[in-house]
Amino acid sequence: MKKIILTRQQIQKKVEELGRRISEDFRDEELLLVGVLNGAFIFLADLAREIALDLRIDFIRVASYGAGSSSAGTVTFTKDVELPVRGKKILLVEDIIDTGRTIARLKQHFLGQGAVSVQVCALIDKKERREVEVQADYTGFDVAEGFLVGYGLDFAEQHRCLPDIYHLENPTAP
Ligand code: IMP
Ligand code: MG
Repeated sequence: MKKIILTRQQIQKKVEELGRRISEDFRDEELLLVGVLNGAFIFLADLAREIALDLRIDFIRVASYGAGSSSAGTVTFTKDVELPVRGKKILLVEDIIDTGRTIARLKQHFLGQGAVSVQVCALIDKKERREVEVQADYTGFDVAEGFLVGYGLDFAEQHRCLPDIYHLENPTAP
C-alpha cells in the first residue's frame, strides 16, 4: 500500500524555489553539481534546469542500502566522479537524508580531494533515524518518518519513475 505525500506540482514549485536560491547564493561563480546515484537522477535533472549558473555536472554512486529498507551502516563507493574536484565549489545533490552517513562520508571524501567547499542540497530531510550530525544547506521538504518512493526514490529498484512521492506502508525485503 502506498499513499501520496508530495504531488508533482508541490515538487516542481519547490525545485524552482531551490534553483532560485542556489542561483543567487552562487551568483557569478562556477559550481559543480554532484548527483548521488541512483536516487537523485530525476531531482538533479529538474534542479539543474532551474539554476542560472555556469554549471558542471557529475555523478557519484554509493551504496548504503542493500535491497531492503534499512541502512547497512556502511557507505561503499561504487563509482567516483570523473571531473576534477580540486579547487571547486561542490553542491551535492541527494534525494533524501536518512541516517546522514552517506552525506557525511561524501563531504569528507570531496574535502579530502581538495574541494574548496562542499554544500548539500537534499530534496527530503528525514530526521527520525539520524545517526550522524549533518545538516543540508538546501532542503526541499522535511518529512518526519516513513519510507518514501517515487521521483527517483526506490524500494528495491521499484517505483523510481513515479512522478509524485509516496509513503510506502510496510516495506519488506522481496
Ligand atoms: P543515509 O546514508 O542513511 O542518510 O541514506 C541515504 C540514502 O538511503 C539515500 O540516498 C537513499 O538512497 C536511501 N534512503 C533513505 N531513506 C529512504 C527512503 O525513505 N526511500 C528511499 N530511499 C531511502
Ligand atoms: Mg540515494
